[in-house]
Amino acid sequence: MRGYPSVKEMNDDQRIGIVKDIFASVTDKYDFLNRFLSLRRDVAWRKSTVSEMNYFQTYRFLDVATGTGELALDCANTYESVKVTGVDFVQEMVDNGIEKVQTQGLENRVDLKFGDGTNLEFDDNSFDVAAIAFGIRNIPDKIKALSEMKRVIVDNGQVMALELTTPTPGLWRNFYGFYLNGILPKLAKWFTKNPAAYEYLADSIMNFPTRKEFVSLMESVGLKNCKAIPLTFGICTLYIGEKQV
Ligand SMILES: C[S@@+](CC[C@H](N)C(=O)[O-])C[C@H]1O[C@@H](n2cnc3c(N)ncnc32)[C@H](O)[C@@H]1O
Repeated sequence: MRGYPSVKEMNDDQRIGIVKDIFASVTDKYDFLNRFLSLRRDVAWRKSTVSEMNYFQTYRFLDVATGTGELALDCANTYESVKVTGVDFVQEMVDNGIEKVQTQGLENRVDLKFGDGTNLEFDDNSFDVAAIAFGIRNIPDKIKALSEMKRVIVDNGQVMALELTTPTPGLWRNFYGFYLNGILPKLAKWFTKNPAAYEYLADSIMNFPTRKEFVSLMESVGLKNCKAIPLTFGICTLYIGEKQV
C-alpha cells in the first residue's frame, strides 16, 4: 500500500509526481467517491460555478484540470451554444472523460485532451471563461496556472477556481477537520486500492491558502473584481476574477 509524505514536506516536483500517481490510481472510482464522500455536494458546487459563467464573445470555455470532464460536461449541457475544451495531465482521467462525452453524444462540442495547466497550448484571448475545479489545490505553482488562465481569456472574460476550503475557526471547522482526517480516509479504504490518496486529500485541503490569501493571489496576477463565494458553510469556495485592460 502507498503512503505519501505530508504536503509540507514535499518539494514541487515530488508533489506533481504524487498528484499524477494519485489520479491515475483512483480514476475508475473517482466520480463515485466524489459523490459519496461529499454527499453529492460536488454536483451542486459545479452547477453553481456554471451558473456564474458569462459567454459573450468567443462562446468558448476552457476547463483546466478537467479530470473526468465533469465541469466541461456541465457547461456544455447548460449552454448549448458554447464549445468546450478540457485539459488534464493524467491521461487515464482524460480517457474516462472522453467516454462520457461519447456516451452523451457531445463530441462535436466537447474536446478533452492531455495538457498541463501551467503551460497551456492555446493562443491569447481564446476563451470567454477559463475555470479549474478542485485542481488548483494540486498545482504547486498557482501563480503560473492563474496567469495562464488569464492569458487565454478575452478582455472582460472570467477566471474561476472552485476549491475545497476550510470553514472559519469554530465548532463546524473542528468537526470538518475530524471528518477529513479521521473518517474520510477510512471510508475511502473500502472503495479504492489507494486509500493514501484520501489522506493526501485531507492534508492538501488543510494546507490550502485561506480565502483572503487566495483572492490576493488572483489579484497578484492582475485579475480584477476578485471575489470568493463560500458554498456549504465554507467547505467549498468559488473564486471569480475578471480580466480587464
Ligand atoms: C480533484 S481532480 C478534479 C477533476 C475535475 N476538475 C472535477 O471537477 O472533478 C484534480 C485533477 O487535476 C489534475 N491536475 C493537477 N495538476 C494539473 C496540471 N498542472 N495540469 C493539468 N491537470 C492537472 C489531476 O490530474 C486531476 O485530474
